[in-house]
Amino acid sequence: MIKNFDPEKYVDLPQIPGDETKRQYYFIEQCKKRVVELTETLGHAPTCCVTTFGCQMNARDSEKLVGILKQIGYEIIEDENADFVIYNTCTVRDNANQKVYGRLGVLNGYKKKNPHMKIALCGCMMQEQTVIEKLQKSYRFVDLIFGTHNIFKFAELLYRTYDSKEMLIDIWKDTDQIVEDLPVERKYSFKSGINIMFGCNNFCSYCIVPYVRGRERSREPKEIIREIEQLVADGVVEIMLLGQNVNSYGKNLENPMSFAQLLEEIEKIDGLERIRFMTSHPKDLSEELIQVMKRSKKICRHLHLPLQSGSDRILKAMNRRYTKEQYIALANHIRQEIPDIAITTDIIVGFPGETPEDVEETMDVIRKVQYDNAFTFIYSKRTGTPAAAMENQVPEEIVKEGFDKVLKLVQETAQKRVSRYQGQVMSALVEEVNESEAGMVTGRLSNNTLVHFPGGDELVGKIVNVSLDECHGFYYIGRQV
Ligand code: SAH
Ligand code: SF4
Ligand code: F3S
Repeated sequence: MIKNFDPEKYVDLPQIPGDETKRQYYFIEQCKKRVVELTETLGHAPTCCVTTFGCQMNARDSEKLVGILKQIGYEIIEDENADFVIYNTCTVRDNANQKVYGRLGVLNGYKKKNPHMKIALCGCMMQEQTVIEKLQKSYRFVDLIFGTHNIFKFAELLYRTYDSKEMLIDIWKDTDQIVEDLPVERKYSFKSGINIMFGCNNFCSYCIVPYVRGRERSREPKEIIREIEQLVADGVVEIMLLGQNVNSYGKNLENPMSFAQLLEEIEKIDGLERIRFMTSHPKDLSEELIQVMKRSKKICRHLHLPLQSGSDRILKAMNRRYTKEQYIALANHIRQEIPDIAITTDIIVGFPGETPEDVEETMDVIRKVQYDNAFTFIYSKRTGTPAAAMENQVPEEIVKEGFDKVLKLVQETAQKRVSRYQGQVMSALVEEVNESEAGMVTGRLSNNTLVHFPGGDELVGKIVNVSLDECHGFYYIGRQV
């Protein structure tokens, strides 16, 4: 735990509630008063920009930050030249970190011109000691730093920041707390992410997530259901259940429950049209889940099933706990049971010790499984993970060669897969009006493919039938029928 702030020091605040949710609402009220003062000084409501790096978990966390900021009275804007800027960071690969450092330089320029400006950093990158040390040394202009485990304390931390001249740091090593019912402001009115679990216990040898997000914790099913019911009452038709490994949901609950059972409960919610989830670890994907998906009217025809590598030797070194054959058999079985399902994946190229033959094995899986889409990443060494200490790191040129080959194959296969629906009519949830093309909207099919078709604002949030007329690589141009 790294912190330079001690809540016990602040004895000036009377009657701080003991219950954590109430405590944070108390601080929201305190912050509101400060924002009223700030509004007078500035001549306008203070503006705030929240920039999100990384995955859907972080995107959901940012919605929680924005929910609190809006209640406090900030005007949320997209421009980083704001009175308050928050970077919600990611550290899964080094390029995510480098982006943050680069952009902090720009923020410092803004801050020099705006004496009221505050800068906060949070998210996964902040859970790394070396990052904090670097910020303390070279980025003194940052006002507030907190981590992934105490994001629920945001209102309280923000309140402390108003009077603090020094950089305030509050990083927890872990937590077993799940704080419910804090404000949240959705980016989309009609769809929402929902955390069903936090953390990860898998320790894939390349991955930093278990170190920065802590141990696996599942939310109580009744809390999840209640949140979804509220969302549906508020106009949400599609939800995405979020967890690093949703297939192991519920194992540590007082009354254990499987992910498939949770899905069956969620299916019953009236008014909810579509259910998505992310991410499924192949080693924990059960037959029960496949059967529930097959029967379901609401679970989308899309499964993200990260492969990472097709070589048994590399999979073992990665600690993925499945073999190439097991993975292919699983994918085939899923396709057999649910023929219209889209399978997508994540692939890492350049893991320590990976040879061109190993890359061939990965390509063999791509050919056999025929993914609808795949995210291909160059291995990034993350300090503190077992893979970072492996001696046989692969030279950059070799990695690049393998990466280009995998990417090319993935693109070819995915285009072929996506195009197989040409001429069919499918239902699409309209997500937005196209910015670049007037009179067009973008919809998402159940299988996650995008379709652009003529339409206006009034369609956003609606599920409509679309004829998939022309396939353009990874998306369709169609028309409403
Ligand atoms: N929990 C998810 C993945 C979260 S991270 C799962 O297990 O599938 C998202 C993806 O980032 C991973 O699937 C992996 O492909 C990639 N990734 C993680 N660590 C990485 C690293 N050190 N270098 C390159 N890619 C990495
Ligand atoms: Fe990382 Fe593996 Fe956990 Fe996914 S399952 S978050 S890749 S350790
Ligand atoms: Fe990145 Fe953290 Fe997600 S490291 S990928 S933002 S869990």
